[in-house]
Amino acid sequence: MKIAKNVSKLGTELVYDIFAKTKKLQAEGKKIIDLSLGQSAENPPGYVIEATIKALKDGSNGYTVPNGIIECREAVSRKIKSLYNVNISPERIFIMPGGKPTMHYAISFFGEPGVEIIYPDPGFPIYESMINYTGAKAIPYNLTKNKDFKINADQILSLINKKTRLLIVNNPHNPTGSFTEKKEIDKLANGLLNVPNVALLSDEIYGRLVFEKKEFPTFLNYPDLYDRLIILDGWSKTYAMTGWRLGWGVWPEKLVNHLFKFCVNNHSCVNAAIQYGAIAALDGPDDSIHAMVKKFISRRNLIVEGLKKIQGIEFSEPKSGFFIFPDVKGTGMNGDEFADKCLNEAGVALIQGTAFGKFAKNNVRLNFTTSEENINNALEKITKMLN
Ligand SMILES: Cc1ncc(COP(=O)(O)O)c(C=O)c1O
Repeated sequence: MKIAKNVSKLGTELVYDIFAKTKKLQAEGKKIIDLSLGQSAENPPGYVIEATIKALKDGSNGYTVPNGIIECREAVSRKIKSLYNVNISPERIFIMPGGKPTMHYAISFFGEPGVEIIYPDPGFPIYESMINYTGAKAIPYNLTKNKDFKINADQILSLINKKTRLLIVNNPHNPTGSFTEKKEIDKLANGLLNVPNVALLSDEIYGRLVFEKKEFPTFLNYPDLYDRLIILDGWSKTYAMTGWRLGWGVWPEKLVNHLFKFCVNNHSCVNAAIQYGAIAALDGPDDSIHAMVKKFISRRNLIVEGLKKIQGIEFSEPKSGFFIFPDVKGTGMNGDEFADKCLNEAGVALIQGTAFGKFAKNNVRLNFTTSEENINNALEKITKMLN
């Protein structure tokens, strides 16, 4: 049997391996504190669940249109208007089975041998995986060079050349928890006006989880880029709905027909009833999001204070999302060694920086959305492990 050679170019998300390892250790009776996951420990608001159950009871059992029911696309359009005061036609909005398919489709749209795609390193591992799969050349921008892992517009713009087809930006950022303010995003958007052949995939999945009430600089603020801008967003992180597999993309008008066919050829449509839950989430009050962010800030503060006391660990304070990405070089270990030791000796699951690219080999990612008790215990175990 022979399979297509591009299949072997696919990468993966190490988090799933660590998830399986953690479950196995737990099944063997070991106590593991799990700080590895890419999701919060919260639940979606009750009215979202009720709206979904109601839709199921009312008979939402069949296929829907591949781009998502119109009511759901209109709800996304309404939410975008209320948050960012821009008008996006529901025709440009696609409801997706998660945020990730927008990434998969966007990179598939632009990647092929002979072209280049620019992406963040460290960054969500599927960017590089999918770029390699398409045969395009993966061009990373090194975020470890920048203060607090922020986006540096000049650094990114300097990588663009005639072969560049697509630029991927992720703000707020996984795995570092960094947040880049409007001024730098303005600079990047302005620079992109000079390179009209470069498309932009802006991954804004953590856009509602910005701390300190700072304004989130969505690329939807730049209508001059709309003819080559793809926005990746969704319900997973904002409403604690990762397992529902529900996301949305905003696409350039001229790509809508192609995208429609991609959906038909792949997932057909998103689960029908869940799209009604999705509407309830968007149209409901934002209280659950504000309460969640408040909780994340206090847990961020807890982990920051705890990590400060551990010798050999350095970090930037996360300004968004739910990850912290310390450098552990000072402990005498690299990120891989540190993560292994934490899991096997301390019973704390976290993820090595190399899971997110080649530049963060001395870092590890910790999720701080678990209970305060878990955070305190994990910090205690790590301290003990190092002494
Ligand atoms: C930066 C980033 N983009 C996209 C995704 C995918 O989100 P979803 O689970 O909705 O597919 C994730 C999930 O961890 C992420 O961290």
